[in-house]
Amino acid sequence: MNDLKNQIKVIAITQGSAPLGYAVEVKIIAQKIGFKTKGLSEIGIVVSELVTNVLKYANKGTLIIQHIIQPEKGIEIIVEDEGPGFDFPDKVLTDGFSEGQLLTDNQFLAPKKSLGCGLGAVQRLMSSLSIENKSNGGARVVTQKLLGTGNER
Ligand SMILES: Nc1ncnc2c1ncn2[C@@H]1O[C@H](COP(=O)(O)OP(=O)(O)OP(=O)(O)O)[C@@H](O)[C@H]1O
Ligand SMILES: [Mg+2]
Repeated sequence: MNDLKNQIKVIAITQGSAPLGYAVEVKIIAQKIGFKTKGLSEIGIVVSELVTNVLKYANKGTLIIQHIIQPEKGIEIIVEDEGPGFDFPDKVLTDGFSEGQLLTDNQFLAPKKSLGCGLGAVQRLMSSLSIENKSNGGARVVTQKLLGTGNER
């Protein structure tokens, strides 16, 4: 059976807007879907990480929020952009992989270095995650959190 979903909101991601603002918007929607304190906090972190990546690596993009109705209730967050896409889509979920390389201990400590843990954290906090490069360029991240065991708190 195909998933049944309702699209709730499409928001442009643009330079100059704070990732936290997007996180708050999505958390308001997630609360209406039924997520409670812990799930809402996790969704906020996820949105902030994904929007930050768009602002850092792609300049601008789009955030789409869908309410999953069947087979299980939950939220789907899609973040797309018009940047260069992932150079190494099969490696970016590895913690410590940042800007095209696996960081050494020294680089981890270097000022202004990213940790390379954003997408790994998204994977841990959500029920599913898929990343891909779009055929016309740019990155697309699709991630779902279902209102199942452990996510009703
Ligand atoms: N939207 C995107 N477009 C192109 N490349 C991306 C995009 N998002 C992430 N990447 C690539 O994937 C790598 C890993 O991303 P991830 O968010 O896990 O770590 P990070 O942004 O390097 O560091 P952190 O999120 O811990 O501050 C990035 O360093 C970047 O090379
Ligand atoms: Mg990141």
